[in-house]
This record gives sequence, structure tokens and C-alpha cells, in this order.
Amino acid sequence: MVRKALVAVSGLALWIWVVLHVAGNLTIFSGPAVADGYAAMLRRAPGWLWAARAGLATAMVVHVAGVVSLARASRSARPRHQSHLPAETSALAARGMRIGGALLLAFVVYHLLHLTIGVLHPHFEPGRVHDNVVVGLRSPWIATIYMGAAALLGLHLLHGLWAAVRSLGVRPDAAARRRRPAVVVLSAAVAAGFAAVPLAVLAGWLR
Ligand code: HEM
Repeated sequence: MVRKALVAVSGLALWIWVVLHVAGNLTIFSGPAVADGYAAMLRRAPGWLWAARAGLATAMVVHVAGVVSLARASRSARPRHQSHLPAETSALAARGMRIGGALLLAFVVYHLLHLTIGVLHPHFEPGRVHDNVVVGLRSPWIATIYMGAAALLGLHLLHGLWAAVRSLGVRPDAAARRRRPAVVVLSAAVAAGFAAVPLAVLAGWLR
């Protein structure tokens, strides 16, 4: 089904972007010169930066619109719903993905206003990424929101990758199941990488 494939492919593109973002975030541990230098390097090629942003925004819109449209279709065709999982388990997982996805979307909007645009930041200074992050995450409430988002994202990535693999027609046979630990480790590593920054700020290791 085309919509399922679109949700899967846009989800995989977002997966790749998230891995790049977590790698970029870890430069914060190397100090202001490296983190701010990395951000400045991205801005020196505005064409590429805006192309990447446009790709990211397109992937998000396709992903969310596809999920909404699939949810509508499955509601109107419920009696014919087919799944290899017991109906209740798969409905619960799909619901969790939708609720988690909506929370992540709300987080992304907050996060852009906080650390990219800066209007929700107490002392935002354009280009000073390291200091903006450290000052912005000093409040335990805000650090908790970021750690919660990291955990939620880890679960979303884990379940999403398996759903994408099935949607794209690869049966989760024995060989695929053997790869499951790798997917769990990768999703947990992304979640841990995102959570590490707010955790280190709270612990006073990043200042
Ligand atoms: C939890 C720790 C996180 C930290 C410390 C962090 C930090 C940052 C910073 C500093 C920026 C601005 C970069 C710049 O101005 O050059 C940014 C941008 C962004 N972040 Fe995060 N982020 C985190 C988690 C996330 C998560 C979980 C998501 C998505 C699920 C996300 C999505 C985005 C997006 C969409 C942008 C805008 C990219 C752009 O167009 O420039 N971030 N993040």
C-alpha cells in the first residue's frame, strides 16, 4: 500500500537525520569552540542547510499526514483489519505510536522555539550553541522534558523501524529477528545520546 510505504520511507529518512543530530549534539561535550564551530560550519553552506531543512520538513509532513490518513482508513475498515499480531496487541502498539508521535511533534515545536529560534530561551544568543544548550537545560523541569523526549524517541524509533521493515515487505523471519538486538542497541544508543546532554547539565558536568 502506497501510504504505508510513504510512512516507512519518511520514517527511515527521519531515523537517519536523528542519528546525525545526536552525533552533532555530542560535540557539546568537546566544549564551546567545537560545538559552536560545528554549528557555524553548517551555516557556512546555507544552500545545503536549507535543502536539508526542507527535506526534513517534507519527511515530517509526509510521515504525519500518512499516519493520520492510515488511522482514518483503519477506523473505517476495522472489521476487515488484518495483522499477524493479535488484533488487540497491534491496535495498542499503533495507538502508542500515534500518541508518542504526537508528543514528539509537540516537543519538536517547543524545542525549535527554545534552541533554534530562541524565543522560549531565557538568554538566547545566536551562534552560541554550547552556552544556549547549557543555560537552556539548567532548569530541572526543562532537562526532564528533554530526557523524557529522548526516552520517547528511543521507543518510537525501535517500534517504528520494525513497523517500517514490515511495511516495506520484509518479513520478520528468523534472520531478521536475529538482527533485532542491533536495532534495540541502536535505538537505545540514540536515546542515551540525547539524554546525556540534559543529564550532564543537571549533574554539573557541562557548564
Ligand atoms: C535531548 C537533547 C537535544 C539537544 C541538546 C538538542 C539540541 C539542539 C540544538 C542546539 C539545536 C539548534 C542547532 C543550531 O542552531 O545549529 C537543535 C535543533 C533541532 N533539533 Fe534538537 N536537540 C535535542 C533533541 C532533539 C530531538 C529528540 C529532536 C527530534 C525528535 C530534535 C529535533 C531538532 C530539530 C528539528 C532541530 C532544527 C534543525 C534545524 O533546522 O536547524 N532535537 N537541537
